[in-house]
Amino acid sequence: MVDRNIFRKIQDIRNKALAKYSHFNVGAGLETTDGKLYLGHNIESSSYGLTICAERVALFKALSEGERDFRRIYILANNEEFCPPCGACRQLLIDYAPNIEVILLTDSGAEKSYRISELLPEAFTEKRLK
Ligand code: THU
Repeated sequence: MVDRNIFRKIQDIRNKALAKYSHFNVGAGLETTDGKLYLGHNIESSSYGLTICAERVALFKALSEGERDFRRIYILANNEEFCPPCGACRQLLIDYAPNIEVILLTDSGAEKSYRISELLPEAFTEKRLK
């Protein structure tokens, strides 16, 4: 069960999403192994393809602050359905957080959890570059 306090923070960030084209608001909370929480929401562009997902915003914030060890990421959308991360976010997550737990949430309190390796089987990772 997600901690109440964290859940509220993810709802708050989700509600701040810049999603005027899709009206699909997403919030993400990325927790480091030492318990810090980096929040992100999706940011859409009038040039639609430049849009960035909530998960990558949270990940890039954390990486750019020097964080390197991640425990879990929570994801919450505004439509009462689970919001699994898109392919691009799965790739970035496996690159920078290969053991991360991905926890999908809904406002009504449903939860579903995966390992990133389940969500991206046979992943291309840095090992293949050697
Ligand atoms: N989106 C996310 O932020 N995370 C996801 O996991 C899926 C999609 C965003 C991108 C876009 O702003 C909107 O949701 C609709 O695709």
